Amino acid sequence: MKNNFKWYSVIAILLALLIGYVGFYATDIGRNLGGAGRRTTETLNNNQLENGNKLPIPVLLEDKNPTEGKAEFDLNVQYGETEFISGYKADTLGYNGNYLGPVIRVNKGDEVKINVNNSLDESTTVHWHGLEVDAEMDGGPHQAILPNTVWKPHFTIDQPAATLWYHPHLLHKTGEQVYKGLAGLFYIEDENSERLDIPKDYGVNDLPIVVQDKRFSNDGSIPYQLNMNDLMNGYIGDTVIINGAINPILDVKNEVIRLRLLNGSNARTYDFNFSDNNDFYQIASDGGFLKASVKMNNLSLAPAERAEILLDLSTYNVGDTVTLRDGNYKLMTINITENSNKEVFIPNELVNIEDYNQEEVVRSREFVMSGMGPMVNINGKQMNMDRIDEKLKLNELEEWIVSNETMGMGMGMMGMMNSTPHPFHVHGVQFRIIERDGKTPPLNEQGWKDTVMIDNGEEVKLLVKFSKKGLFMYHCHILEHEDSGMMGQFLVE
Ligand code: C2O
Ligand code: CU
Ligand code: CU
Repeated sequence: MKNNFKWYSVIAILLALLIGYVGFYATDIGRNLGGAGRRTTETLNNNQLENGNKLPIPVLLEDKNPTEGKAEFDLNVQYGETEFISGYKADTLGYNGNYLGPVIRVNKGDEVKINVNNSLDESTTVHWHGLEVDAEMDGGPHQAILPNTVWKPHFTIDQPAATLWYHPHLLHKTGEQVYKGLAGLFYIEDENSERLDIPKDYGVNDLPIVVQDKRFSNDGSIPYQLNMNDLMNGYIGDTVIINGAINPILDVKNEVIRLRLLNGSNARTYDFNFSDNNDFYQIASDGGFLKASVKMNNLSLAPAERAEILLDLSTYNVGDTVTLRDGNYKLMTINITENSNKEVFIPNELVNIEDYNQEEVVRSREFVMSGMGPMVNINGKQMNMDRIDEKLKLNELEEWIVSNETMGMGMGMMGMMNSTPHPFHVHGVQFRIIERDGKTPPLNEQGWKDTVMIDNGEEVKLLVKFSKKGLFMYHCHILEHEDSGMMGQFLVE
């Protein structure tokens, strides 16, 4: 194990902890937050904040170009006000609205133009998470959009059907801007997604589900103030919202429904399951359909990961309900309100994914995630926009070995840093996971991925091949870690 740990950082951390904890208890926003870490479901407030909202369905963004094979969209980054808790308004940010953004839907092969107008008083960027486009169009920290200016990225969709998303990526500001509401879904459809017999009725049985967590102040606002726990583990809220609503209600027919889950939280990982311990089928991961659907009754999703799942509700009657949960905690009520006459069908085979030939690997690289709190790093380095950490060649197959050596360092007395899993994300590519700690990864991790959770002490092997050029990022998708500098840059030529 590499140990790039210095004694003076211990003192810095202890000092920071002390200051952090004093500050933490001095505010009332912490409420009953317990020790942070991977999950703090036991502290969720959702059950105290039932408010019976219908699940908000984001609008499908209008394509302004009528020509077949071309698409043009307008996004406005703006200030908003959102009533998460009835009677209380919170200052938020949104794309074309108060909170979150519309769903952008394109087809494989489309030539896409997007006009992003920034009407904020501060800079932002819009990163197309999971999209394979040249780096200048990627919306990373180098593509800052100054206040009152318009950024016009354009690209051709060159990858299979998938549920991707978009969000800001401004250096050191990503956590705050996403937390305040800047995030939206980006769908790619193709011949295969059209052909498959799966639910496709947007907002009816094909449902966008953006899951996030918040910490509300007594006035219903969502201040982004980091305490020491947040600096260590990322900002973990005490209340989960879906598409911006607390404990929403989703009305559906008793048929198969398709949930496109995005973990859009800054740092929380979810363990999704349903109240009747229902089996469900994962059909897609980050970068598109899996080879075959995977049956499960529990699904863990780290920040930035997506999963499309099919849930069969045909055994329910009108009036029945089932809830989507995180562990034992209720996140959303699914209400069966109508009988369906559709036949139940869960496809087994979904898409043909060609596996990479490992003998074609030309290079192996290691990425070691370590450090803690403000010192989190990759390969001992923190993000520097002027430094290129890795250089790669276009269309060469590489093996990336990513490990998490975040230390436990005997601070068990604080009871909070025994485990710091890091979701590792790479821009400009969809990769394959070939090994998780020496073993074949689970079936639902064998398709295209752009983000992979790496637990403390774990080592994960990826196969990556880049088809787009430029300066891209790799980083931890716990946004507070990213903002602290747990990010590096690579140039593809
Ligand atoms: Cu979703 Cu570099 O991020
Ligand atoms: Cu990304
Ligand atoms: Cu991290």
